[in-house]
Amino acid sequence: MQPPKDYIFNHKGFNFQPDLVTAEYIDSLEDFEIRDSDVFLVTFPKSGTVWTQNILSLIYHEGHRDGTEDTDLMDRVPWLEYNIRSMDYISRPSPRLFAAHLPYYLVPKGLRNKRAKVIYVARNPKDVLVSYYHFTRMAVKFETAENFDDFMERFLAGEVLASSWLDHVEGWYAHKGDFNILFLTYEEMKKDLRNSVLKICTFLGKKLTEDELQAVVDKATFDKMRVDPRANYEHMPADILDQDKGRFLRKGTIGDWKNIMTVAQSERFDSVFKERLQNLPLKFCWDINEDLPS
Ligand code: A3P
Repeated sequence: MQPPKDYIFNHKGFNFQPDLVTAEYIDSLEDFEIRDSDVFLVTFPKSGTVWTQNILSLIYHEGHRDGTEDTDLMDRVPWLEYNIRSMDYISRPSPRLFAAHLPYYLVPKGLRNKRAKVIYVARNPKDVLVSYYHFTRMAVKFETAENFDDFMERFLAGEVLASSWLDHVEGWYAHKGDFNILFLTYEEMKKDLRNSVLKICTFLGKKLTEDELQAVVDKATFDKMRVDPRANYEHMPADILDQDKGRFLRKGTIGDWKNIMTVAQSERFDSVFKERLQNLPLKFCWDINEDLPS
């Protein structure tokens, strides 16, 4: 299905933001040279990207951890497909950290050699939808939906940036055997941040002292990140994010969908998602008071 509006453009079945990337650049990523030490954070938008970007930066950069360096996350863990700051990725020192919303089939082919590491963070899709809806209000170049109902229909049809949530998560999960990949959920990070940071460190082969680990966990909490300009995207260019229209770190919880979705909307959502969601081996937690699925 072709997205109806020009605030997104579709390339090879995936929706991108037109003013930030070209089809040629996306195609060139296929041959982007991968190093063993590269770490890629992959998400569908609104699934905990900035959160995990911050965790990675805190793990790798002492100056971020101890607060002596005032470097934006965008410069620590830049977007592969949206090179907003026109950085020279090729000459970046190792270990390079990248974020991406790309589907599994558009990432550099070198990632499939299982040497570089991929961390995929997924979030329950009703909270993704609600977070995304609020985000469209502050994202200057996005078309703001008339109302939540309209946006939900677009989301369900995959007519948003990064296309269909189901396709994205299913695709990455189905191809996990091709990558050296760790799957995490937003919900497990929220319920047990320390354990999630430990999982990430183990996956990356990073050994932190107890004090360093504690500093990472402490600085990656929602309340700390919200007031940390390096980590809350308040330095994003004003022509991309209008900080008067909302905050990137909005609520940071599990189950906020219940505050906006009506019973009818939730049922409509379920009618489209239920079957494929049930078949997805990744299981989600839908409420802050719910236990994590085992
Ligand atoms: P909400 O809009 O529900 O608050 P992304 O970075 O992928 O765009 O995701 C943004 C979502 O992650 C927002 O969700 C934001 O508040 C949440 N988030 C960011 N940092 C967080 C943290 N430290 N703890 C919990 N949620 C966080």
